[in-house]
Amino acid sequence: MRSGAAAAAILVVALALDLSARFCSGANVTYDHRGLIIDGRRKLLVSGSIHYMRSTPEMWPDLISKSKAGGLDVIQTFVFWNLHEPVRGQYDFEGRKDLVKFVKVAWEAGLLVHLRIGPYACAEWNYGGFPLWLHFIPGIVLRTDNKPFKVEMKRFTAKIVEMMKQENLYASQGGPIILSQVENEYGNIDSAYGKGAKAYINWAALMATSLDTGVPWIMCQQDDAPDPIINTCNGFYCDQFTPNSDKKPKMWTENWSGWFSSFGDPVTYRPAEDVAFSTARFYQLGGTFLNYYMYHGGTNFGRTAGGPFITTSYDYDAPIDEYGLLRQPKWGHLKDVHAAIKRCEDALVATDPKTTSLGSNLEATVYKTESGKCAAFLANVDAESDATVNFNGNSYHLPAWSVSILPDCKTVAHNTAKINSVATVSKFVRQLSRDDSAAAAAAAADAFISGWSWIYEPIGISSNGAFAKRELLEQINTTADQSDYLWYSLSIELKEDDKNIVLHVDSLGHVLYAFINGELAAAGKGSHSNPNVSMDVPFSVLPGKNKIDLLSLTVGLQNYGAYYDLQGAGVTGPVLLKGLENRSTIDLSSQQWTYQIGLRGEELRLFDGGSSLWASHPTLPKNRPLVWYKTTFDAPSGTSPVAIDFTGMGKGQAWINGESIGRYWPTYTSPNNGCTDSCNYRGPFSASKCTKGCGEPTQKYYHVPRAWLQPTDNVIVLFEETGGDPMQISFATKVAQSVCSRISETHPSPVEMSSGSGPTLLLSCPSPNQVISEIKFASFGTPRGSCGDFHQGRCGGSGDDLAVVQKACVGLSRCNVSVSTDLFGEPCKGTTKSLAVEASCAYGKGS
Ligand code: GAL
Repeated sequence: MRSGAAAAAILVVALALDLSARFCSGANVTYDHRGLIIDGRRKLLVSGSIHYMRSTPEMWPDLISKSKAGGLDVIQTFVFWNLHEPVRGQYDFEGRKDLVKFVKVAWEAGLLVHLRIGPYACAEWNYGGFPLWLHFIPGIVLRTDNKPFKVEMKRFTAKIVEMMKQENLYASQGGPIILSQVENEYGNIDSAYGKGAKAYINWAALMATSLDTGVPWIMCQQDDAPDPIINTCNGFYCDQFTPNSDKKPKMWTENWSGWFSSFGDPVTYRPAEDVAFSTARFYQLGGTFLNYYMYHGGTNFGRTAGGPFITTSYDYDAPIDEYGLLRQPKWGHLKDVHAAIKRCEDALVATDPKTTSLGSNLEATVYKTESGKCAAFLANVDAESDATVNFNGNSYHLPAWSVSILPDCKTVAHNTAKINSVATVSKFVRQLSRDDSAAAAAAAADAFISGWSWIYEPIGISSNGAFAKRELLEQINTTADQSDYLWYSLSIELKEDDKNIVLHVDSLGHVLYAFINGELAAAGKGSHSNPNVSMDVPFSVLPGKNKIDLLSLTVGLQNYGAYYDLQGAGVTGPVLLKGLENRSTIDLSSQQWTYQIGLRGEELRLFDGGSSLWASHPTLPKNRPLVWYKTTFDAPSGTSPVAIDFTGMGKGQAWINGESIGRYWPTYTSPNNGCTDSCNYRGPFSASKCTKGCGEPTQKYYHVPRAWLQPTDNVIVLFEETGGDPMQISFATKVAQSVCSRISETHPSPVEMSSGSGPTLLLSCPSPNQVISEIKFASFGTPRGSCGDFHQGRCGGSGDDLAVVQKACVGLSRCNVSVSTDLFGEPCKGTTKSLAVEASCAYGKGS
């Protein structure tokens, strides 16, 4: 028998051989009208976006290995300029910003990389990725033919290219980077820039190619991208897209797997069937490179969220969720699509597609080579009606809005409307704390939160850095985004008989708190679609001097649109005192205002937890505005991802061991109506088509990366703006709750067949040490919904279905159930039936 060490050595050699075979000699990457050509071979590639700094380096290997298991060949990321050069000329590539390391992690897993240098990114990232200092360069106009801008853009782009070259990361050098991107979606907005736009795009193309990366560059959403830059498509569907030259391949750089969330809006989800449909349609109609945006969205830690109002979570309903867990059935369903499409690769890249109509909204596309290879796609693009089509002498059932993939032009390997993947659903499980009952707390060492201490943030001006101006200042020009907060303060003499006066404030947003004589008198907030805030605040007058302190906040800077960089914020006025007794309205706009950028607590770095000012006293201040809170806690045990449920708090920011986990805002709920619990995947998708969580907080759980936690004595600091009760916050871990499987009696792919009577449903627990402990749902008929949310359809689901599956599965770690009327009886003759099962797994005795 081989010793473990010898076996490990063999493995290392084998891996080294594999890598050397793949990467040591530089690969030549070019393209033609059918695809990217790597070392002389056209490739069919599947790619996914993961933005390195939206997770932690500790998560990267797992995210990348899950991407690879899901069938990806390529990892795509933007490069975020403002992260790497927060101060002009001072670069930072440490920790989560370690771009080289991220590229290497993908490389070590055997994946390729698409580097979107931009450096404009959009991406729901603060200020679209531009450093704010750019805005202050004299004479600069961003994203057009403007010298000061071009100098900076070229310097940064060249810097990144040089870094990659130094590490031999371009494919031309033997590395994994096969593709780069310059600019981003400029074509969507370029008309606003007039003549400068075209000159800028031509310059950007020349600048990029002059950097000599040895791999192609792309521009997305840029119909006039000059040669040799490839213009690519972004959207929910790109099957109808054609590049601007018949020498360029059809590429899709952003297939939006879901959508981003904004505080105050419901959360968008995109059904797996529709994502799969869009993907299959793209490869059907000649596409050979597709990227999911996002494959893993992650988290906008710190103040990196764009905006305004982008949530801290950037989950995106992506195939891998914010916490790094598989989102099922999306991940599994897409994996099945990729596997089926890969089986078509040889025929697909060798020739051009030939599409014929099989009837109204029915299309067959065939890729047939002279050597006899054949792959076909049959599509039903009707949003309502299923169809049966004849193709090559056989008959095929095509559900509405679906594509069947036939890698040999005969047998259906996959239909995008039929989800057959085993799914697991994850749920948040609350971790007990001392505040739960004493007995429970005694049993729960987990997530133990000890007593809170606090510091009041002064209301109004408290810093030596304050300054005065006889005008209202725009906020972003004033703070340079060093902080979310800007104080506008003023004192005014009023008379006792000024009883019913109202303070009127107009602001560009994004959030405004008005304090009158030291009391919070009003709070207002905008939204992603309309950030402005206006308020009329009843004023309780003191005879003599009255104090007005307006605290104005940004919630992430704009990231999209023509001249988005010039969109302002803050109290730009007018600010009026109305309703004065026997006097006309007073316009306060050009009176002397005193300004303070940021908070005193920020100046004192309270978020590090270390100050000596923290007070602890049995009566913790609750529901008071502007309070810093601090406590220590033990990490929830185990390795499951951790979140904080901020229910009970208002709005603010949170830090764990000095790392900012982002802005929290559980009190910003979405409107009560307009959500669709069960979304019909058939028909064109849009970001507002399928939404959930109406009437609930847009974001209640906030990710705390495991890597930022130690077992005990973790310090959490909160800055609460409007008022909350920190005793109510709780920790949760996200764990797999259920395993599911659904299979149709017409299951197309080759599966284990049971005694000839029908396909077999397979159910297996995530860990071999677990056994199926309970069958939560079983229905043979027309069950609806998805894992975690199955419900009975029109037919089937008699009580017996549950019993049949229980008998076959409970107590086993995996089981097979034949999908046939022999076992379940006939619930509805003439209808195609499927079996859906949801089960729980538990660790068996002794494991
Ligand atoms: C695209 C853009 C991405 C991202 C996406 C929406 O327009 O290129 O960066 O913002 O929209 O999530």
